[in-house]
Amino acid sequence: MSSRVKVVVTGAAGQIAYSLIPRLVDGKTFGNKIVDLCLVEIPQVVSKLEGLVMELEDSYFPHMGEVTYTDNFDEASHDADWFLLVGSIPRGIVYEGKKIEERSDLLKINGGIFVNQGKAIGENGKDNAKILVVGNPANTNALIGKNAAGKDSQLWMAMTMLDASRAKSVISKKTNTNVSKVKNMIIWGNHSPTMYPDVENAVINGKSGTEAINDMTWVENAFLPTVQQRGKSVIDARGASSATSAAKAALDTIIACENTTEAGDCFSAAIASDGSYGVPEGLICGYPLMTLEDGSVEIKRDISLSDFAKERFQLSIDELSSEREAVKHLMK
Ligand code: NAD
Ligand code: LMR
Repeated sequence: MSSRVKVVVTGAAGQIAYSLIPRLVDGKTFGNKIVDLCLVEIPQVVSKLEGLVMELEDSYFPHMGEVTYTDNFDEASHDADWFLLVGSIPRGIVYEGKKIEERSDLLKINGGIFVNQGKAIGENGKDNAKILVVGNPANTNALIGKNAAGKDSQLWMAMTMLDASRAKSVISKKTNTNVSKVKNMIIWGNHSPTMYPDVENAVINGKSGTEAINDMTWVENAFLPTVQQRGKSVIDARGASSATSAAKAALDTIIACENTTEAGDCFSAAIASDGSYGVPEGLICGYPLMTLEDGSVEIKRDISLSDFAKERFQLSIDELSSEREAVKHLMK
């Protein structure tokens, strides 16, 4: 295994990045590897990154390698192992006179970013590069990027780890269990209010979720809306979208991909469907994933869904299909 890893981060002067970037080089996320960072921003703010680089240098990070910054994504993408595509506009802001309320409203604004970035990743990134799209609407941005990259050996993911962590937190409060005891937490579908966080297949303190919770009224009326709307609740309370929890979720996704998944567990991210669980091929859909001993990431295929779960999951699949339709023009 290589002892160096090159990580490209876009949106590097933004809120999530400020919490994320130092922890990429703290020796925990990538273990003993030396981490080379390439930070990317738009031309208007790229000079701010000089300050961030100063802070990184001042922070004593023995695992930090070379740190560079640029407004040229093409240049940044060469031989990178990981791409963390955070750069994009968050909701909660007013854009062209309209308040951006839903993540899907961001499609028109952010979708285009991922055409050029995807192309550069396909041309210049490592053949086995992993790409985590954080910028919203994450699933469909990843779809656009993956299509432009056109390289199946690279793994494109959209982030649903934050939704899984939120679900674990709600379950841990309900069952008075530490979050670490909630395993196999699956987020099916889109990173949007249609996502389906699957309590029934979670494993809570060694028991099945169905048995440990045994209260579908609570699942339907409290658990699901809380998790599905948590992003909005944070925006309403903070006046800005989640940043430190999103950064932690991105780090947890990297850690999940870099380490073999324990038996009986899985991690959550959205990847391209191969038709599994009846999802139309190609859609970037939230699935239960496992990292195998050889480092490859696979969909966990032995999960049974109740009729209730299937019905809810289908709503999210339909939404992903309509988002794909809406960005057809970016997918030539
Ligand atoms: P932010 O506005 O603080 O930072 C975004 C940064 O991206 C800005 O500095 C901006 O200049 C930069 N940027 C814009 N276009 C770029 C481009 N083409 N190349 C490089 N940089 C570019 O926003 P934030 O709070 O850091 O959130 C970033 C994104 O992450 C938003 O779209 C938000 O909705 C999303 N998000 C996703 C999740 C998730 O779970 N998937 C969670 C939280 C936030
Ligand atoms: C979140 O879930 O916190 C992010 O996707 C930001 C948002 O717009 O909700």
